[in-house]
Amino acid sequence: MRNCELEIHFADLKAEDLPAARALVREAFATVIGEAEPGEFWNQRDYVSARWHAPHTHWFKAQAQGELLGVACVSRWGQHAVVGPVAVAPDHWEQDIAKQLMAHVSTLIDEWGCTHSGLFTFPDSPRHLGLYQRFGFWPRCLSVVMARPLSGSYSPLAEQHTGDLQALQSHCLGITEAISPGLDVSGEIQAALHQGLGGVVARRDGFAICHYGQHCEAGPEVCYVRFAAVRPGAGPEALARLIGRCEALAAAQQARQLLVGVNTGRVQAYRWLLEAGFRMRIIGVALHKGQDYDNEAVLLLDDWR
Ligand SMILES: CC(C)(COP(=O)(O)OP(=O)(O)OC[C@H]1O[C@@H](n2cnc3c(N)ncnc32)[C@H](O)[C@@H]1OP(=O)(O)O)[C@@H](O)C(=O)NCCC(=O)NCCS
Repeated sequence: MRNCELEIHFADLKAEDLPAARALVREAFATVIGEAEPGEFWNQRDYVSARWHAPHTHWFKAQAQGELLGVACVSRWGQHAVVGPVAVAPDHWEQDIAKQLMAHVSTLIDEWGCTHSGLFTFPDSPRHLGLYQRFGFWPRCLSVVMARPLSGSYSPLAEQHTGDLQALQSHCLGITEAISPGLDVSGEIQAALHQGLGGVVARRDGFAICHYGQHCEAGPEVCYVRFAAVRPGAGPEALARLIGRCEALAAAQQARQLLVGVNTGRVQAYRWLLEAGFRMRIIGVALHKGQDYDNEAVLLLDDWR
């Protein structure tokens, strides 16, 4: 049915919408990627439930006659906001639903007072670039998802966090603030630890939030580094040590590979990953509104999908 015949409501996504939202996201991405039948796509991944339950996210929905037509999520990392996923049921594409969802997302980002927001999208899609550019998100560097099989030899997991959450958050905030004032991933730390999504590796000169397990966004047997950062000045050796600790954590969870995301504007981090044997898996483009935290020397890994 065309939208002119439908009365579409926009509201916050509720707990009872989660099964339909998960199905919609899988169907929308299966259709756009075109690699699998929708029913066979992302069966073992969930890009919705954990993000909905996280303390630093907000979800909007588009609904008509009780049917979910679209969803959009935005996560708040302090003064930075990361948009995604945005998905519309394929039967209702090009009926202005994503534009209206993005209008709600943009208003919320303004209300939060964020100085920067961004998202990861398909670099070769006029539809995607055009949609987000309307809302002031402009393409800058590529964003690359990379993977490396676990190497097989690991030292003990001395630095996996098991202690006080407040102390951990303030330690990590000290590192992210030193990279970019206002960058705060406390919500990601809480989501990983409170929901049992994974663990946090904390070192004096860096930290990493890792997801693994059955419902991990990266899929089975993968340890996925949701966010990792090295204190400015600590250098690539600190990144190497941090990745080593992530591998040890991954091995303890029976993962077979480590997955990371990096913006290619962080040239030193990107080159280090390539030299360390990480192979490119997915190439997207990062779209930004406001001042990002990417520069050549920043040793920061994040995945905005
Ligand atoms: C991408 C997606 C969310 C778009 O949803 P949608 O409801 O069809 O989008 P809308 O109808 O609201 O937006 C249409 C806008 O896209 C842009 N657009 C579409 N085709 C375009 C083109 N060829 N060139 C430039 N801009 C284009 C325009 O801004 C257009 O608005 P306009 O016609 O008023 O100019 C939807 O296709 C989807 O769910 N895809 C699968 C999941 C996905 O890819 N999510 C986004 C990941 S970042």
